[in-house]
Amino acid sequence: MYRKLDDMDFSGKRVLVRCDYNVPMKEGNITDDARIKKTFPTVQHLLDNNAKQIVLCSHLGKPKGEYMPDLTMEPVYERLVQEYGTQIYFEKEPDYFRINRLQKNKIVLLENLRFNPGEKENDKRFSEKLASFADIFVLDAFGASHRAHASVVGVAELLPSCAGRLMQKEIEMLSSVVENPVQPFNAIIGGAKADKIEVIKNLLPKVEHLIIGGILANTFLKANGIDIKGSKFDEETLFAADDILALGRDRIILPIDCVAADSFDEDAESVECKLSEIPESWLIMDIGPKTVTLYSDLLEKSKTVAWGGPIGVFEFEKFANGTRMIAQLLASLDATTVICGGDSGAAIAKYGLEDKMSHVSTGGGASLEMLGGKKLPGISALEKNFGKFR
Ligand code: 3PG
Repeated sequence: MYRKLDDMDFSGKRVLVRCDYNVPMKEGNITDDARIKKTFPTVQHLLDNNAKQIVLCSHLGKPKGEYMPDLTMEPVYERLVQEYGTQIYFEKEPDYFRINRLQKNKIVLLENLRFNPGEKENDKRFSEKLASFADIFVLDAFGASHRAHASVVGVAELLPSCAGRLMQKEIEMLSSVVENPVQPFNAIIGGAKADKIEVIKNLLPKVEHLIIGGILANTFLKANGIDIKGSKFDEETLFAADDILALGRDRIILPIDCVAADSFDEDAESVECKLSEIPESWLIMDIGPKTVTLYSDLLEKSKTVAWGGPIGVFEFEKFANGTRMIAQLLASLDATTVICGGDSGAAIAKYGLEDKMSHVSTGGGASLEMLGGKKLPGISALEKNFGKFR
C-alpha cells in the first residue's frame, strides 16, 4: 500500500518531485518530450492544491558523478518554460547550495542529479540535502524506479511521500497485467537483451501464447536447432532459451519465415524466405508474411496484451513491417494493451498509435523488471513510507 496525490495535503507545502526527464537528445535538442509531458498532470495537481514551492528533479544520461556540459538539464528547462513560463527557475548550480534563496519561484528545476556521486550511491547526506528542499516527496519517475538511488529511495526514507499521477498509472497498469490479466492474455517479447528471459519465465505460466520476435527470436530458433546463418543472437541467453522451450514449447510462438538481408544495412539486398532457405551468411532482419499472419491470428482473440521489444530491425524502414503490423493490430483490438517503454514504446510513437493503446509505459528497464516479477525499489520505498509516516 502506498499514498497517492489525493491522499496528501499540499497546501502551503514545499514539494520535491522526482521525475524521469531522461529524454532522448540529438545535438542538444530533445527528440521526444513524452516523458516531460506526462509529468504535467502531477505538477498541475500541486499548483491547483496551493503547494508553496515545487522542486522538480531528474537524472539525464549517465554522467559519472561529475558535471558534464552535454548532460545539463538546460534543454529540459527550456521545454518546461514553454509550459510554465516565468514561474519556473533553473537551479544551474550542480550542488544546489543556493536553493534556499529561490523561494520567489513557484517551480524550480534542479540540475542533473547524477552530477553528484551521492545520487547513484544512495548517499545519506545527498538524500538529506534533497529532502531539505521540501516537506513532501512525490515520486513520479516510474522510469527510474528500478534504481535504488538517493532521489528514488533515499528521500522516501526522510519525508512523507506519495506516488505522482504518472507513477500511479504505471503501477496500476503493469500490476494488472502481471497479477491479474483478463484472459486470453498474450505477450509479445522482442528485442535483444538477456534481461527478457526473466520476463518470459514470469509470464509463461500466465499467458495463452508468448510470441517471440527480434534477436531474441533468433536465439530461440538457434536453441531449437534451426540454422539461422549469419543472424545475430545472444550467446548468453542460448541455454536459458533451451530450458524455457522445454517448459512451454507449445505456448512459445516463434517465426516460421523471415525477411533476410545480405548485411545489417538500411539498403541491404533482401529476400522473403522460409527459415530453411536463408542464403548462406545472410541475417534475419524481420519476420516474414506467414509469421505476420500467424502472430496476428493468435493476437486477434486477446483480451489482454503486453508488448516489450521490437519484432525486427524497425529503425530501417525496409525491415519495419513486422513491428508495424503488430503495432497496428494491437491498436485495433478491443483489449487491454500495455506497451513497455524503450523500443516498443518508440515504435508505437513512430506510428502515431499511442492514443489507441491502454498504456504506453515511460519506463524501459523498469517496466520489463515489473513484467519479470521484480519488486521495484521505488515502489517498495513508497510502501515502507506509508507505514513510517502515518
Ligand atoms: C531509462 O531511460 O530507462 C530511465 O531513465 C533509467 O535510466 P538509467 O538506465 O540511466 O538508470
